[in-house]
Amino acid sequence: MTEFKPLVFSGVQPTGNLHLGNYLGAIRKFVALQENNDCIYCVVDMHALTAQLVHEDMATQIRSITAAFLAAGIDPEKHIVFNQSQVPQHAELAWIFNCVARIGWMNRMTQFKDKAGKDREQASLGLYAYPSLMAADILVYRATHVPVGDDQKQHLELARDIAMKFNMDFHDKIVPTGLGIDIKVGEEPVHAYFPMVEPLIDGPAPRVMSLKDGTKKMSKSDPSDLSRINLMDDQDAIAKKIRKAKTDPDALPSEVDGLKGRPEADNLVGIFAALADKSKAEVLSEFGGQQFSVFKPALIDLAIEVLAPITTEMRRLMEDPGHIDAVLRDGSARARVRAEKTMNEVRDIIGFVR
Ligand code: TRP
Repeated sequence: MTEFKPLVFSGVQPTGNLHLGNYLGAIRKFVALQENNDCIYCVVDMHALTAQLVHEDMATQIRSITAAFLAAGIDPEKHIVFNQSQVPQHAELAWIFNCVARIGWMNRMTQFKDKAGKDREQASLGLYAYPSLMAADILVYRATHVPVGDDQKQHLELARDIAMKFNMDFHDKIVPTGLGIDIKVGEEPVHAYFPMVEPLIDGPAPRVMSLKDGTKKMSKSDPSDLSRINLMDDQDAIAKKIRKAKTDPDALPSEVDGLKGRPEADNLVGIFAALADKSKAEVLSEFGGQQFSVFKPALIDLAIEVLAPITTEMRRLMEDPGHIDAVLRDGSARARVRAEKTMNEVRDIIGFVR
């Protein structure tokens, strides 16, 4: 059985300021994955239109995500960093996938229900089709591994459903082109064109929660700025927000089990663990039995130590937008070559004349 070549792909939307949740949940994982993988990281600017069409600061937002990627340590020469709209093959494959995906599948997407809210009639068609574009982002490179937050799990399952249906429906077309790779469907080996993508969700802080409410995700749309640490926050702001973070009156437990039912304690320990590249168990073996009055200052020092160099580098990069744009142009040109190869194969499989 031939295996798909491992390839990591992920995307970040250029909407709103990046915060600690984006950094620990996504960007930090992107950085680590570069070591042993071929990686493609995309600023998904076309996704940004789905919730709101007009963005006065679109270009700045795109550059700021790119700056965060670079400042955090993503190497745009060894890997690929680009913005989605410069590679039109994403939209092209998304159209094909719109014809693969079933309306019933789309209707199950919980993020659409959340984002569309009560007035679903007024949501854009793009918001509804968003997961199909996301599947195309990944599969236009036939990527195999996707680091994402756990809120994106359902979208990745949809990407697998789309890949599976495409593979099944074009089964006999895939084999004669010689492009097929065997995967197993149940006990049956089937020639597959698209891989079954694997989410990479784990890590000590797969989900960073609000500093004001440990049951709510850290979010750029939370009205209270004290609920999140923004990547551009200065040291005083970071210290203040952690000092004011909600906690409970008890000391930290010595075992991970003791964090159950203590969402705020769990969140702060998870943040510490992720920043220190440790497990929660290791953090608790150090801080178990200590009060938050001891733990919080340690967390403040660690957060500043890790985040300050990134913030400084982001600010420096943002002063030279020409350089950022050149990085994106170069990455886009390399991404286009790969994406066009896939599209030619897809056109052949479908039977489009070219
Ligand atoms: N939907 C993702 C999010 O909101 C962003 C995204 C778009 C993405 N395309 C992707 C993530 C492809 C991973 C792979 O976070």
